[in-house]
Amino acid sequence: MIKRFQAWLKQRETNHKPLHVSKDNVPEHVAIIMDGNGRWAKRRGLPRVAGHHTGMKAVKNVTIAANELGIKVLTMYAFSTENWKRPKDEVEFLMKLPQEFLAIELDELIKENVQVQMMGHREQLPEHTRKPLEEAIERTKHNTGLILNFALNYGGQRELVEGVREIAADVLAGRVQVEQIDEKMISANLLTNHLPNPDLLIRTSGEMRLSNFMLWQLAYSEFWFTDVLWPDFTGEHLKEAVAEYQSRHRRYGGLQ
Ligand code: FPP
Repeated sequence: MIKRFQAWLKQRETNHKPLHVSKDNVPEHVAIIMDGNGRWAKRRGLPRVAGHHTGMKAVKNVTIAANELGIKVLTMYAFSTENWKRPKDEVEFLMKLPQEFLAIELDELIKENVQVQMMGHREQLPEHTRKPLEEAIERTKHNTGLILNFALNYGGQRELVEGVREIAADVLAGRVQVEQIDEKMISANLLTNHLPNPDLLIRTSGEMRLSNFMLWQLAYSEFWFTDVLWPDFTGEHLKEAVAEYQSRHRRYGGLQ
């Protein structure tokens, strides 16, 4: 009994420990695998899509928090190239979310100087998904605050295949010699060629896998996992992740 009380007390202290996030060493690029929407809904006896809908609100809150922290790029895994395998109703619901999200939140994002971007295979997206995003990208292209980068119909392996094909075409056309192919050239042929690699990857809901997300770009990122389900994820959780990131020593394969 006493042991359980002590454990509870310790947990309580941990929960109430003020988070110290330093202004220095803020990760420039944070990438998030937003997982656990379905479980969040199931626990409440709601349909899975209710989890996605609430997850959309978490996207907005975390974006504002990231901007305040001084993070420059926030990449959110919203739909993978494999998510088409989900039931038709769920896919249709997910495809409607960007439009709804932007209708509700774009004005505030603009006020916050956020720039919207998107990475993924656009041509496969229905027009009602693609168009509002492209309009938001256009309207925010001169904003200088946080880049909110939606990974939509994105797959890391497919991104690499397409990049490799482009390089192969350059080789065939004689524009590139095989010996010239290096890490820099591959990076330059990926969808993220204008962005720094993520410093920090967050995955919610207790799952610990990459699910085909930014396979090349995450080579030296710090990973942070939490049991919190995405719809419950807040700016405070983001701060927790950043505080832990700041306590880590990145060595990139070398010594200190
Ligand atoms: C994974 O949870 C989540 C997704 C595949 C969709 C993520 C999308 C959002 C959070 C909303 C995106 C918002 C905008 C504005 C585009 P899951 O359904 O696999 O959860 P489960 O593992 O509990 O079933």
